[in-house]
Amino acid sequence: MLIRRCAVLFVEPREELDIDWSSLFAGESALGATVRWIALAPHLGNEVEIGSDELQALGCISLTLWQERAACEQKSSAEVIARLLAHGLLLSDSPEGAAMRERDEVLRSQHWRPLSATAHMFSRWGDMRVDKGMQFPSFEELVESYGAPPQPAIERGAAIDALMLPVPARAGLDETLFKRYTGRNFDPVATLPLATAARLLQRAFGSQGEREMAPDAFVLKKLSPSAGGLHPTEAYVLAQRVQGVAPGLYHYHPVRHALEPLVAMDTTQTAELAMRMVADQDWFVDAPMMVVLAARVERNFWKYRNHAKAYRALLLDAGHLSQTFYLLATEAGLPAFVTAAVNEVDIERALGLDPLKDMVVAVCGCGAASGARDTVEMRYEP
Ligand SMILES: Cc1cc2nc3c(=O)[nH]c(=O)nc-3n(C[C@H](O)[C@H](O)[C@H](O)COP(=O)(O)O)c2cc1C
Repeated sequence: MLIRRCAVLFVEPREELDIDWSSLFAGESALGATVRWIALAPHLGNEVEIGSDELQALGCISLTLWQERAACEQKSSAEVIARLLAHGLLLSDSPEGAAMRERDEVLRSQHWRPLSATAHMFSRWGDMRVDKGMQFPSFEELVESYGAPPQPAIERGAAIDALMLPVPARAGLDETLFKRYTGRNFDPVATLPLATAARLLQRAFGSQGEREMAPDAFVLKKLSPSAGGLHPTEAYVLAQRVQGVAPGLYHYHPVRHALEPLVAMDTTQTAELAMRMVADQDWFVDAPMMVVLAARVERNFWKYRNHAKAYRALLLDAGHLSQTFYLLATEAGLPAFVTAAVNEVDIERALGLDPLKDMVVAVCGCGAASGARDTVEMRYEP
């Protein structure tokens, strides 16, 4: 049997502090620290605790070259190699190892930067809910715990040297910019007109033209900027109450300007999924349309392969799209929202996405305001 190490692996010496009660009662220093080795391998997506002997063995096995298992066993031990294979940190060419090997191949094929893959796979939430520890501390509570936050604006250099700028004249974009705010009080029964949804999707996520930059290398022109012009972010729609659209999950096709049905649902199911997607932020759940922004990483990593800046670029791309979405909603007289506090794992499951290939970044949504101001909003009030 041939074996090799998984493509990406970081090992964290994780410290846990504990109190030794007998020392405490004896009046001695009672705080102890225990260090455990935690293996973070993005193709697994879950943490694995390993021993020092396993750590040692991992450092001696290539991630590129396939080696005879027996030779590796001689260098460490048969038990250690068996444990690492069972964890999926070592991979084999055997039929039993096929599933782990395949996950590792998927990771390799996407051209992830190792640290970025690790940050992505280990910052996802699954089933994060209020009863599982999701918290929404108010500013008052935060100040009580942490003291006042850093000042909202700072000065660099001497104030006397500052060049005072002219007051900007009112201009075309102002009306929309000043009206934009994050809505947290959506009308629970209002529907979203199809024409509004269609304009929003087309202008925020749709293609305004296609160009062949080189043979077989096509890019789309969209109304937000995108790193390398690649536009890797896909829009998946959760329609709760969009006129003429049956409740459920859809993929928005940016060229055909069409909603591709993925999962049909009843309204109880869409409401439950909406709540789960935004990790129990109930102030967003009444939005009649939500859009999941998920980057097809390979589209960006095709150019920016194993690239230090690529992961940032994916996050920035989604940020631009969400702002365009906000402005279009505002223009239509609707509040919008964006949130990064999402249950990626649940969203991936609902949409059938592989997190090594499709990176859920954020969820946005919009709809008519209810008129209530139960949950805080930051509307511009001159
Ligand atoms: C990346 C990002 C993540 C956000 N996440 C949340 C969130 O989880 N929950 C929420 O209520 N608002 C969220 N917001 C909205 C901000 O709270 C909001 O933009 C901010 O309070 C300023 O208010 P405004 O958008 O009305 O100007 C998020 C905004 C951004 C850009």
